[in-house]
Amino acid sequence: MSLLNEQAICAQLKDFNPLNIYLFSSIDSTNRFLKEQPVHTQKTTLGITDICCAETQTAGRGRLGRSWHSPFGENIYCSIRWHFNCDFSALSSVGLVVSLAIINALRIIGIDVLLHVKWPNDILWQHQKLSGILIEASSEEKSLIIGIGLNVNSKTKEHPLPDKAWCSLLDIVGKEVDRNLIIAQLVKEVSCYLNVLISKGFKAFLNEWQAVDYLLGSKISISTPVGVLHGSAQGVTEKGQLCLKDALGTVHCLSSGEASFRHDNLPF
Ligand code: BTN
Repeated sequence: MSLLNEQAICAQLKDFNPLNIYLFSSIDSTNRFLKEQPVHTQKTTLGITDICCAETQTAGRGRLGRSWHSPFGENIYCSIRWHFNCDFSALSSVGLVVSLAIINALRIIGIDVLLHVKWPNDILWQHQKLSGILIEASSEEKSLIIGIGLNVNSKTKEHPLPDKAWCSLLDIVGKEVDRNLIIAQLVKEVSCYLNVLISKGFKAFLNEWQAVDYLLGSKISISTPVGVLHGSAQGVTEKGQLCLKDALGTVHCLSSGEASFRHDNLPF
C-alpha cells in the first residue's frame, strides 16, 4: 500500500500556488474540516485555494444524509474549496460538471473506459458506484466545498457493501493506481471544468453529458422534496435539470432528487 504524499501531489500543481494542502491520516470528514477552515486572503487565479485529503474518514458524509465508506489507505477522500465570482444561481449544475471533470481526469491518466453518470453526480462503471460527490456551502460567501469520494484500490468484491454495488479503479484496470497522481489531475480538471461553467454555462457540456447519461431514455421514479414522480428520463436542460416525461406527456424539469429505475410495464 503506498500512502498519500504531499510533495508528489504539489509537484504537479505548480499553477495553483498558493495552494493549501491538508493531508490527514484520519479525520472525521474532509468536507467538515475544510468548511471550518478560515479563508486565506490570497486567492489563486484558478479559483481553488485549499484541498484536504485523508487516508480514512471516520464519519465520511454522503448525499442525502448517508455515510461514505472510507477504508484506510485505499481510496481518495478529497475536498476542494472553490471560489466563484458569479451569481449562485448559475451554479445549479456544479455537481454534474464535477462528475464530467472526474471522468476526464481519469481518461487523461489512461483510464479510458465507458463510465456513466447517474444524475446528478454518481459515477458508475458497469452499474456499480465508482465515485460520489458531495457539494456543501462553505462558511465563506462565494465559495463551495466540493467533496469527492473515488474508489481507487479497494478490493470491492472481497468486501461487498450491504446497501449498494460498488467498484474501484482496481476492478477496472486490474492493478493498483497511484492516488497522488489522480488527486493532482482531479484538482486540475475540476478547476478547468468549473472555469468553463462560469464562462459558458452548462450548455457547453451538453454533448459530453449525453455521452455518459446513465438515465437517458429509461423508465424512472424520482423522489423529490414534494413527492415521487414517475416517467421516462429525457436528458437534461441547459441548466443541468433532469427532464422527466410523465404519463400525460408533461415534461418536469427537476433540480434535485434521487432517481431509481422502474420495473413495471407502464408504457411511459
Ligand atoms: C455520495 O453520497 O455519493 C457523495 C459522497 C461524497 C464522499 C466524499 S469523500 C470526501 C468528502 N468528505 C466527505 O465527508 N464526503 C465527501
